[in-house]
Amino acid sequence: MTTRMAHDGHDFVLVANRLPVDVTVADDGSVSWTRAPGGLVTAMQPVMAASRGAWIGWSGAPDLGATPFADDDGIELVPVGLSAADVAGYYEGFSNDTLWPLYHDVITPPTFHRPWWEDYRRANAAFAHAAADQVAPGGTVWVHDYQLQLVPAILRRLRPDVRIGFFLHIPFPPLEIFDQLPWRTQVVEGLLGADLVGFQRAGDAANFLRVVRRLTDLETRGPLVFQRDGRTVRAQAFPISIDARGFDGLVRTAAIQDRARTLRAELGDPDVVLLGVDRLDYTKGIRHRLKAYGELLAEGRLSPERTVLVQVASPSREKVGAYQQLRDDVEILVGRINGDFATVGRAPVHYLHQSFPMDEMAALYLAADVMLVTALRDGMNLVAKEYVAARSDERGALVLSEFTGAADELTAALLVNPHDIDGMKDAIVAAATMEPREARKRMRRLRRRVLTHDVAAWSSSFLTALRSTGA
Ligand code: G6P
Repeated sequence: MTTRMAHDGHDFVLVANRLPVDVTVADDGSVSWTRAPGGLVTAMQPVMAASRGAWIGWSGAPDLGATPFADDDGIELVPVGLSAADVAGYYEGFSNDTLWPLYHDVITPPTFHRPWWEDYRRANAAFAHAAADQVAPGGTVWVHDYQLQLVPAILRRLRPDVRIGFFLHIPFPPLEIFDQLPWRTQVVEGLLGADLVGFQRAGDAANFLRVVRRLTDLETRGPLVFQRDGRTVRAQAFPISIDARGFDGLVRTAAIQDRARTLRAELGDPDVVLLGVDRLDYTKGIRHRLKAYGELLAEGRLSPERTVLVQVASPSREKVGAYQQLRDDVEILVGRINGDFATVGRAPVHYLHQSFPMDEMAALYLAADVMLVTALRDGMNLVAKEYVAARSDERGALVLSEFTGAADELTAALLVNPHDIDGMKDAIVAAATMEPREARKRMRRLRRRVLTHDVAAWSSSFLTALRSTGA
């Protein structure tokens, strides 16, 4: 876990668990990198280019020592090496089997395992040291997400001269849940090393401020926390978004439109195509969605001959037990529905445990009459925003869980409580049978919001607030 010393340093440094590239290690041990598409990198591109930026993160492969290199657009990428033991304790353990379930309403019970905490601390220190080595005097460091909550305070001790922002991409839980964490005070103090702590929803920022009041003796006023050293920390919501214009442009191309028509034909030209697109994660409500769909077919409210559900479930965190269990549960449910309702050559659920390139996703969005986003808890949910950005034809309907950050903004969707299976069934039928005029009216409202609040607006509002906070 070492990094080299920077020359004169970078004015802007982004720190995230992952680099915006995927690594491939060939049989001969040679390493190659390909750009991983993602909203964050699109948003940060102009900022990084203008300020000789560096991006610090993990490659995604254990035991890979790699030296910093510049990507095609001139961003310096600085890999942080994690051993197989670090990956097991810091990434799979503390990040994804302690913090992830704790911060998502304890849908699955979090595991509190003391050695994982030590791994989390050590890995956070390694990311913080890498940032301290890379940032120029008086520069800015933007730290991302729950894997790196201790980085702000460690970095501040190493480099008191720099401005530090932190953004949490997932929900921040209510005090009553956060209180369970044996290391709750250390985590809060880690975050308070930042000048600006950003959240997805106003409710997340309010939860955080309540936790600060309960677990520290610091004074707060509105969004501000007054630190002992005279610094002020601001906690505020900055709802993240997508590259909406880029998406809108992509979907208007003839190639994507053709592909969408082909997809519908390949599905057997059904009357209604329903679509779910998720990482295979227990927060996404896939089991609840399948239950609702199965009942609608059984009751004849949706025709098994004329309806298809395409469920893309991209593989995720496959070494963590709760994810293995979820995969089994989902695959049993899919098998049951298809077993009960399929005919030879036609299945009511197309289940794809795969990841697809952005072009194919865009075509799927365009081919779908109804998009199902039924998460039990989700920081934002960018799939909902991508579906809206893809529908320049102003058709299609979005069924959206009220437990997503996106529900605060996308109020023209059909909002559902995914625990209320009957309510969700009614919403799915309403979406599948919606009059085109009503669908257009709703989609226009949704598009106005998504196209005017894109990821570039998100990053610039965060960085503007950061410049006017703290030191
Ligand atoms: C969520 C988190 C991200 C994470 C992503 C994929 O969106 O907020 O920090 O990168 O899931 O999960 P993974 O564990 O594969 O990085």
